[in-house]
Amino acid sequence: MSLRGFIEQARRARVLVEIHREVSPHLELARVAAALDGRPVLFHRVTGKFPVIVGAGSAREYYARALGVSADRLLPTLANALEHPRPPEIVESGVCQEIVEHGVDPSPSPSPSLRSGSGLRLLGAGLDCLPILTHLPTDPAPYITAGVAIIHDPDYGRNVSFHRLMVTGPRTVVARIVEGRGTDTAWRKAQDGLPVAICVGNSLPVLLAASMSPPKGVDELGIANAMQPTPLVQCKTVDLQVPAESEFVLEGHITHQLADEGPFLDLTETMDFVRQQPVIEIDCITRRQAAIYQALLPGKLEHKLLMGMPKEPTIFAAINEVCECRDVLITPGGTSWLHAVASIVKRRPEDGRRAIEAAFKGHGSLKHVVVVDDDINLHDPAEVEWAIATRFQADRDLVVFSDQPGSSLDPSATHVPGQKTRTAKMGLDATISWGASHKEYEKVRYEQVDANQYLGN
Ligand SMILES: Cc1cc2nc3c(=O)[nH]c(=O)nc-3n(C[C@H](O)[C@H](O)[C@H](O)COP(=O)(O)O)c2cc1C
Repeated sequence: MSLRGFIEQARRARVLVEIHREVSPHLELARVAAALDGRPVLFHRVTGKFPVIVGAGSAREYYARALGVSADRLLPTLANALEHPRPPEIVESGVCQEIVEHGVDPSPSPSPSLRSGSGLRLLGAGLDCLPILTHLPTDPAPYITAGVAIIHDPDYGRNVSFHRLMVTGPRTVVARIVEGRGTDTAWRKAQDGLPVAICVGNSLPVLLAASMSPPKGVDELGIANAMQPTPLVQCKTVDLQVPAESEFVLEGHITHQLADEGPFLDLTETMDFVRQQPVIEIDCITRRQAAIYQALLPGKLEHKLLMGMPKEPTIFAAINEVCECRDVLITPGGTSWLHAVASIVKRRPEDGRRAIEAAFKGHGSLKHVVVVDDDINLHDPAEVEWAIATRFQADRDLVVFSDQPGSSLDPSATHVPGQKTRTAKMGLDATISWGASHKEYEKVRYEQVDANQYLGN
């Protein structure tokens, strides 16, 4: 189901918020969308040209509905797609190329309209046509936040991932490209610059697949296609294929020129710092006739879910290698990246500890994990805390690892430029201790009644 299909579905399910009042992409739209976090919001009249959708993936239920499964089947659905990618069909033509803008405005950058601080003005050329959001008054420029970058690595094939893009001119952006990941390694091999196609306005399966880090050589678009048919079409100016139902495609090259990128709000809801990052030159923009621009608010629910949820199947698989795992949740309070809870069926004394070690293998950026028995509902934070309160003893069940590779997003970790972030990690084994009588640890519940029968006269 394309992004449009999703919008229609959300409208029918009465979860779509539709805003008809004119809104500026300069600061105003992000504020309104933040106030409505957790709902898909369609801004019909945006100063500039195109309508904007924000928050399409801001709740688990939206992914479940889009994939046609119940919320509790999301994890196995993602795990299955990750394990069994299916090569997408290549089609002759796609709606993402209804309009083709070759040779975008080569006027000197940075564009005055983008730097004036007064919001975007429609110049009719290049990126200036797009309602790209400026999110915060401290932002150095407007940012494309929901762009999915497709590149080809000569050794591993296609790689698909998110890169936030700071707009510096009508045909230039600076991309945040995390070191050592797929795009970065391919870019380092490409002496003359790396061809790239950035898709904006994607289906939920494409967004999910772009957030995953499968083993090298596994095609993320094959994973998206395993979730839902995702036909691809050949790009106009680069030898890459893109989802045919994208709203916009920006074709260009990741150059070896570097420029300041940031500061910019990140997943942790703290400001990421300024780095020298690669400049991308955009040579051609293709789009749908009446395209809808997609944005994603940094640090808000959609960003959090897209980062964390695809790690649940990898943690699940890693724990299942050592003991039986029932469920995994990356929790929103832990920035949807640094914290997880997992439930297991404990069959041996060391299963809790083994599950902790496996969880860290399943998600390298994980910092803290709580392992509980399978009678605990992971989706209820009070229940997980109850398990820690009643089943955990720190001098027996706490596991601490010092000086581990950690997440670049954690402000409290040790960051040395050019080196992998270092951090301490902690696991809490909150399972019932081996040999204890389960009866003593089970939650005693009152028998249920229909209280309505006792209300009134
Ligand atoms: C919403 C969102 C924004 C992201 N922004 C960036 C980014 O700016 N730069 C980056 O390198 N990775 C970013 N990521 C993470 C990449 O998509 C992720 O690293 C990717 O899955 C790595 O896959 P790879 O190892 O196959 O390249 C973002 C992920 C999400 C979900």
